[in-house]
Amino acid sequence: MSRIESTSCKVIAVANQKGGVGKTTSTINLAQALGFHGKKVLIVDLDPQANATQGVGVDLEHIKLSVADLIRDRAAQTEQALFEGAEFSLIPSSPMLARVEREMVGITNSEMRLAQRISQIRSRFDFILIDTPPTFGPLMNTALNAADRVLVPVDSGFFALMGIKELLAEIEEIKNATNPGLRVLGYLLTLADGTRMTQETWDGLTSAFGNEVLKTKIRRTVKLREAPALGRTIFHHDPNGAGAEDYLELSKEILSKVEEKKEPECHLSLVSGVNHV
Ligand SMILES: Nc1ncnc2c1ncn2[C@@H]1O[C@H](COP(=O)(O)OP(=O)(O)OP(=O)(O)O)[C@@H](O)[C@H]1O
Ligand SMILES: [Mg+2]
Repeated sequence: MSRIESTSCKVIAVANQKGGVGKTTSTINLAQALGFHGKKVLIVDLDPQANATQGVGVDLEHIKLSVADLIRDRAAQTEQALFEGAEFSLIPSSPMLARVEREMVGITNSEMRLAQRISQIRSRFDFILIDTPPTFGPLMNTALNAADRVLVPVDSGFFALMGIKELLAEIEEIKNATNPGLRVLGYLLTLADGTRMTQETWDGLTSAFGNEVLKTKIRRTVKLREAPALGRTIFHHDPNGAGAEDYLELSKEILSKVEEKKEPECHLSLVSGVNHV
């Protein structure tokens, strides 16, 4: 049996060079929420802090091959770095990634290596979410070269909007140089609470970016703060709370955003064999 299957896997970099805005929290919980819709999701942890890796319960001691090896060593097998879970899969990070990032400076095309790796496996997933570090540098460029879309978490704080112009300039530069299809998927308000600061950040975001701002707001909750230390997503730590509700809502909004436009760069391929049906 065979059928035409869309392999329009979306690769989404979750990026903002500002630290602590909810990139990792959003990567992990969005991954699991998309899984609830039957989507096959891969997380690529591209941050030497390895917060996403540990946040989903993978012990750094158990990692034989990480994303650092995939970038550094052409002979490393992508497959061997893959942790395949029932709910989502992971290519883990490791602290060694910081050294690899330093080595990347000056190596021609090293910032394209993850994109090449991802192209080998993207047909197996519906979404690949890349968690990025809070700095501009080779790793951020690597993520932006591998991605189709950028999800920008924005915290509800006083300096929240200040760095976005620089991020957009970075995206524009990569788009013009090496990745013409790259676009912002949306701006996501995180750490939202009932304060005036949250309202002002929301107003600032919507007046600057209109309907590129996602309607879902991620509320600040103690449970979301606790979950990574336990190596659990919010859906395991507090499945009925506000955090789970918000990330589920976000997954629906992103699905409708991605699926509403049948985008021209979607590839169609012929898939055969009952396993795929
Ligand atoms: N909605 C939320 N409510 C409460 N705490 C949150 C929420 N989102 C994130 N946090 C907490 O805020 C801190 C920063 O979040 P997170 O690690 O996701 O940000 P980040 O942007 O990935 O940080 P970094 O830039 O260091 O990679 C973490 O302690 C996390 O548990
Ligand atoms: Mg992080």
